[in-house]
Amino acid sequence: KVRRVTPLMLSMLKGQRPIVSLTAYTTPIARLLDPHVDLLLVGDSLGMVLYGMESTLGVTLEMMIAHGQAVMRGSQTACVVVDLPFGSYQASKEQAFLSAARVMKETGCSAVKLEGGAEMAETVAFLTARGIPVLGHVGLMPQLVNTAGGYRSLGRNDKEAETIRRDAKSIEAAGAFAIVIEGTIEPLARAITESLTIPTIGIGASPACDGQILVSDDMLGLFSDFTPRFVKHFATLGPQISAAAAAYADEVKARTFPAIEHTFQPRAAALPDSDQ
Ligand code: KIV
Ligand code: NA
Repeated sequence: KVRRVTPLMLSMLKGQRPIVSLTAYTTPIARLLDPHVDLLLVGDSLGMVLYGMESTLGVTLEMMIAHGQAVMRGSQTACVVVDLPFGSYQASKEQAFLSAARVMKETGCSAVKLEGGAEMAETVAFLTARGIPVLGHVGLMPQLVNTAGGYRSLGRNDKEAETIRRDAKSIEAAGAFAIVIEGTIEPLARAITESLTIPTIGIGASPACDGQILVSDDMLGLFSDFTPRFVKHFATLGPQISAAAAAYADEVKARTFPAIEHTFQPRAAALPDSDQ
């Protein structure tokens, strides 16, 4: 049996080589991505990407656990990290522990991720001291969309940059094994990366980070409600799926599908019976 990458192993990649991460929500996608990545994130972005929600706020702990289980079933070697959803950890450090413990016990994942800076440091320390590895998430925090004023790149003024720098520092000091930096300008991502001893994993945060993550559906060209500047399409599966559905519809209407080779026929008694 192959051993999984651990959070500690990810920490030790800083200064060695970039950390490769992608999101996964399902067993078949986890199976395809697992051989190529260090970290698979079961992100609460699944609310928007899989369920068509307007934001990540409606995602529940039960949804995260179900998808965490699916990704664990499909992966063998990647470190699987599950997002704590909005409302499952902000009330208190005790609430955060109970939510994170459920996620760890019911999925078997290796760590949880939670959004937040200095205000979440006590919680991160509480979890890590009690056996739950934490991946931090600073900069653009989608769970704060209603108070932070939407999705825009951050760090363009000194006050904003200083806040994010301090957020990253306090999450590191609290014991996180790595930190996702989302949606910040390059000089800020570089300064944070240089000032921390744990790795930074960037999304829309420049190549200066110690690793990168993207939403798989974005980089596969599957989810195209809107494509932010930081997304590169490494494939365009959306148009391929549309074309496949159109071809299927044509063949069904023309009665050219199913063809003879897709059809069960009665066989001569002498032939071996087959249901295949
Ligand atoms: O939910 C998510 O997919 C994330 C990544 C984009 C970092 O938090
Ligand atoms: Na997330």
